[in-house]
Amino acid sequence: MNPIPQIIVLDAGGQYCHLIARKVRDLGVYAEVRPSETPAAELASAKGIVISGGPASVYDPDSPTVDPAIFSTGQPVLGICYGQQLMAHLLGGAVTPGEKGEYGLATLELDDLADPFFSGLAGRQQIWMSHRDVVAAPPPGFTVAGRTDTCAIAAMGAPARKLYSLQFHPEVVHTVRGRDYLRNFVFAVCGCAPDWEPRGRVPMLEQEIRDAVGTRSVFFFVSGGVDSSVAYTLCTRALGADRVRGVYVDTGLMREGETDFVSRLGVSVQQAGKQFLGALAGVTEPERKRHIIGEEFVRVQERIIDARHIFEENWILGQGTIYPDTIESGGTAKAAVIKTHHNRVAGIRKLIESGRIVEPLKSFYKDEVREVGRELGLPAELLERHPFPGPGLAIRCLCADADAPVAATADGFVIPVHSVGVQGDSRSYAPVLAIDSPDHDRATALINRLRGVNRVIAAVATRLPVAAMAVRSSSLDAVRIARLRRADSIVRRLSHDSGYDAKVWQFPVILIPLGSAAAPDSVVLRPVDSVDGMTARSVAMPPELLRQMCRELLAIPEIAGVFFDLTHKPPATIEWE
Ligand code: XMP
Repeated sequence: MNPIPQIIVLDAGGQYCHLIARKVRDLGVYAEVRPSETPAAELASAKGIVISGGPASVYDPDSPTVDPAIFSTGQPVLGICYGQQLMAHLLGGAVTPGEKGEYGLATLELDDLADPFFSGLAGRQQIWMSHRDVVAAPPPGFTVAGRTDTCAIAAMGAPARKLYSLQFHPEVVHTVRGRDYLRNFVFAVCGCAPDWEPRGRVPMLEQEIRDAVGTRSVFFFVSGGVDSSVAYTLCTRALGADRVRGVYVDTGLMREGETDFVSRLGVSVQQAGKQFLGALAGVTEPERKRHIIGEEFVRVQERIIDARHIFEENWILGQGTIYPDTIESGGTAKAAVIKTHHNRVAGIRKLIESGRIVEPLKSFYKDEVREVGRELGLPAELLERHPFPGPGLAIRCLCADADAPVAATADGFVIPVHSVGVQGDSRSYAPVLAIDSPDHDRATALINRLRGVNRVIAAVATRLPVAAMAVRSSSLDAVRIARLRRADSIVRRLSHDSGYDAKVWQFPVILIPLGSAAAPDSVVLRPVDSVDGMTARSVAMPPELLRQMCRELLAIPEIAGVFFDLTHKPPATIEWE
């Protein structure tokens, strides 16, 4: 049984809403998420309230709000991002659209105030921002405590009323002192006492699986990745191996050697490459790709169940869904859909609604899943694998409906290939800017300044000048998937052999239809550092390793160039689609 939450996080639709609750629980204090409009009376038992970020603007009609009575109960309230703007708006301050957006790393200057919330935190520090609107004037009685170059009111408080707010995100790892802000709020301001042990969750998870499954059996899609392997192992432990059937679907969209790796896990392999590629023929739009792939997974499952003459009611589906999968698919009441994960398409949602699915890890983040895996005794070789998305190479193989030229601008070349981003908690789908050097600071400044571009890449080695390249009409076919698979395997081998893969969290390799008639595609390298996949930093590569990769990639005759993705998340997502 979970305790009564001491901290309640009001969900205004932010991508990191759940992460706030999770970070409070990591401090040993039980926290839960509730809808933003929950009446103050229903929050009376909480020692403190946090208002999350969200994709809306306070002056939009129907934007999320909170019961204003929460500000006068005497309970401490912390507003984060949109939560800060909402507090300002409801308490008599002013919110306006910012002149520039501010996405990613920023430097905060925090005043030295005698205040329990800001205690020990004064000075310059790295924070993580994702917003366009700003608080232009604080509400009466509030003191401005911190600012960045772009945002004059990045932290403020009314200590006598125990009301505080931050424009930045203390819950993400890239805000280096984020945990200290939350710790001060939870303990020094709210006076919470520890009541939650974040480790040792395996027995509880096994019991939850038994409760959800009842007397049925579980049909489990295993991908060879960390999440599904941990979830599958939990199910076999909870129910016994004879009630859990593990199946790996070779979608034809997997990386080189993957099917061999997974066969060693002892699950049965279903070949379905033709089925998936057939269903995807001619499709270029990323959300359609994702939906088709998710639905094809459901069809494979139905086919296997049919073939085995198993009565459907006796079976439910198990999945290794983790929290970011649900949140980015619009999983909470007000969150925007950034991308629909393959395990959140309509067919799967139907199963969820009819109680025919078990997802033991759905409120966990990747780092917590690895922790559970360690508790289960799974080998490090498996647990340390980089994440690989369920839709596989399909969402790393970009397509174009028509030929289009690149456009020269004062800042670089605008490449008319669209990729997905997450900006101010909303989805963006925009062209890419190519610049001539792998300069992360310049890329961040460009993204904040330019509208209509959500990603910046650097040309690191090209067969012909970028100015002479064009985007070429192209689709998702077996030839291009094989080209991408080959490029990916080169990058994987070199990054494994050099030890670089252990230094990065994930290293997607993307194929974009940019080049010439003879060499129609280019490769984009996207090594990132992250903890939970919710935010990520684009990281540099050792120059010699990068040179070696470029040499081997350009030895593929159809590859016109090698580019390096310089964009953090936000504003870009890790995957391009
Ligand atoms: P994005 O691209 O949203 O990715 O920044 C965050 C993390 O999620 C992985 N990802 C997926 N994983 N099914 C999955 O199991 C999916 O449909 C999917 N899409 C993205 C991505 O690789 C990254 O680690």
